[in-house]
Amino acid sequence: MKILLVIGGGIAAYKAAELVRLIRRDGGEVTCVLTEAGSRFVTPLTLAALSENVVHTTLWDLKNEVEMGHIRLSREADLVVVCPATADLLARMAAGMADDLATTLLLATDKPVLAVPAMNVRMWQHAATVANIATLRTRGVTVMDPDVGAMACGEVGPGRLPEPEAIFAAIRQQLNPPARPLAGRHVLITAGPTHEPIDPVRYIANRSSGKQGFALAAAAAAAGAQVTLVAGPVDLPTPAGVHRIDVQTARDMACAVDAALPCDVAIMVAAVADWRTAESSGQKRKKDGTGRIAPLELVENPDILAGLAHCVARPRLLIGFAAETEQVIAHAQAKLARKGADWIIANDVSGDVMGGANNTVHIVTPAGVESLPRMAKAQVAQAIIEKVAQAIIAKVADAL
Ligand code: C5P
Repeated sequence: MKILLVIGGGIAAYKAAELVRLIRRDGGEVTCVLTEAGSRFVTPLTLAALSENVVHTTLWDLKNEVEMGHIRLSREADLVVVCPATADLLARMAAGMADDLATTLLLATDKPVLAVPAMNVRMWQHAATVANIATLRTRGVTVMDPDVGAMACGEVGPGRLPEPEAIFAAIRQQLNPPARPLAGRHVLITAGPTHEPIDPVRYIANRSSGKQGFALAAAAAAAGAQVTLVAGPVDLPTPAGVHRIDVQTARDMACAVDAALPCDVAIMVAAVADWRTAESSGQKRKKDGTGRIAPLELVENPDILAGLAHCVARPRLLIGFAAETEQVIAHAQAKLARKGADWIIANDVSGDVMGGANNTVHIVTPAGVESLPRMAKAQVAQAIIEKVAQAIIAKVADAL
């Protein structure tokens, strides 16, 4: 592998030196480009020694500038890695600037780009950075999510550079994307509504069609996962290669999920009924002719997602959905903490989402919010499963 490594000016720059070592140890070639700020944190000499290669720092010292040396440099690598990608560097990339060697290379390259952000938590969460990252992602740049934790500046939150092993795993994945990135992984998905009986002919339900959950099951199976799909009452065919368990009630669903453990990834898409009747009548409830209706006492159903978050066999990656009709992202952020999930995928169900073919989702994680454009549910599923595969690869590398 040939890597062009652009090193921005952040305290995490020292970890880029370790990344160079990992690439070299694997037999890869690295050419380092330091921004001016980057060279305040790590010296060209250190990088030259570790990479056993010339280190470039300014546009003007490329010997063959008459032959467009910067263009050549930007095209020779298999992959351009920006690490650490500071808020400033990401902003200049998003703006298409070319005011130093690093940004000139990034504008001139025809190779895939992997950006690994690291910055203060508030800078990461600033609307400007969020917009810059969204712009870069829509242009095809792969932007890794930063780690969450204590930072050099003393604050705590998302913004830490991922560990060099995780970055190296992401580099490998970029260069040799496994055709079946979830092979060997067990993915557990719930889908559809639940039906809570009132009596033998009536039940409490909701408008969930199960389409998004079934599309996720299909995408996970196509990515090589062993998929268990616990489905509420829906009228949908079972996707190829998926093990389906049909259930009616929330309690049945909770038991089926429990029995399907352990799993690597759980995606709880089902619109589980929050309540069931305290007692379901064995006989059909009748009008008694008085015009009065016998009250229906409701009790709360078990929360399957929250239960998974706190069980001993907690999945490595636990994802919930949030169907909201207002303040979609704020409610999802609150739900993330309350339920103990790793991600909450928020969707606005005020339109025709429930039962419809399209969906607009926002992936809410402790690192921030990624909003996907309105797409067919199958495409939404594909995008989510790609992100799941990346996260699992990074988590496994982190645990090594
Ligand atoms: O609390 P709310 O129903 O809005 O949370 C939605 C998320 O929680 C979904 O992922 C849903 O599948 C899950 N959930 C659950 N068990 C419940 C209620 C919701 O797993 N009883």
